[in-house]
Amino acid sequence: MNILITGCNGQLGTEIRNLSLEHPAHTYFFTDVAELDITDRGAVAAFVRDNAIDLIINCAAYTNVDRAEEDEATARCINAASVENLALSGARIIHVSTDYVFSGDEHLPCREEDPVAPRTAYGRTKLEGEQLLLKACPEAIIFRTAWLYSPYGNNFVKTMLRLGGEREQLAVVYDQIGTPTYAADLAMAIFAAVEAPEWHAGIYHFTNEGVCSWFDFTVEILRQARQIGMGPILCKTVKPILSSEYAYRTPRPHYSVLDKAKVKQTFGIAIPYWTDSLRECLERLNA
Ligand SMILES: NC(=O)c1ccc[n+]([C@@H]2O[C@H](COP(=O)([O-])OP(=O)(O)OC[C@H]3O[C@@H](n4cnc5c(N)ncnc54)[C@H](OP(=O)(O)O)[C@@H]3O)[C@@H](O)[C@H]2O)c1
Repeated sequence: MNILITGCNGQLGTEIRNLSLEHPAHTYFFTDVAELDITDRGAVAAFVRDNAIDLIINCAAYTNVDRAEEDEATARCINAASVENLALSGARIIHVSTDYVFSGDEHLPCREEDPVAPRTAYGRTKLEGEQLLLKACPEAIIFRTAWLYSPYGNNFVKTMLRLGGEREQLAVVYDQIGTPTYAADLAMAIFAAVEAPEWHAGIYHFTNEGVCSWFDFTVEILRQARQIGMGPILCKTVKPILSSEYAYRTPRPHYSVLDKAKVKQTFGIAIPYWTDSLRECLERLNA
């Protein structure tokens, strides 16, 4: 297949590029905004036509949750209208969405068919993207993910490593529960969908296995970083705090664990436990 990857310089796009080396049967077209701005419908249509693209893996997105509150129009343009541009191009699509389509008020892992109720501009625009995509291209595959991190770009793991190296104490919320997702593992799941003998259209939830709070995540990041000799780690105490004690600019879901039964059953994949994947990421960062 001729496969177009949009947003290829982001966290997920970079891991897709890394993993593509293990799937050499396809021809890949890696693009970010400089090569192909997905807000430009004509450019998307021309690129797909001129390069005979069979499949688009859309890794492009407006991912800054706080900034989206102030500039919902731009977030909507990239997360919704542009997804429709891709959907109308005629190629098959694998798209990536978010746990923020849910309210975060539930106390059980969210399944794909559970009611959506986004509480943020980011969540609203990502949900609109899903809806526009499925309307124009009902055969699309959508992976909803959460708490994405990798050795690349800005993410929670890299922020905590930096702060842990600068401060003796960190205060982190323990009343927001979810599951981290190592972008390399999500890339693995996406390739499982690409290489599946049949195309399985639909929405799938994907994170790592397990459940934790941001507080637990931080403790584990610093514990493992010390264990493998990353450093120096100055931080001696991680203090658990409530969301109400932290000056959030945007409301955050209290519980956004995703149920992954469907993705595991459909694509026959095993998903690593979150602390094991964290170890792999830290070892790569340390190398
Ligand atoms: N990060 C998370 O915690 C998280 C959680 C849940 C779901 N997700 C979803 O997972 C997917 C991948 O996220 P990620 O963290 O890998 O994102 P990322 O690192 O922010 O990468 C997104 C990439 O898209 C590019 N881009 C922005 N506008 C574009 C445009 N108009 N045309 C082409 N490319 C454009 C960005 O370029 P610039 O950097 O120049 O803007 C960036 O390289 C996204 O769909 C995101 O919504 C992420």
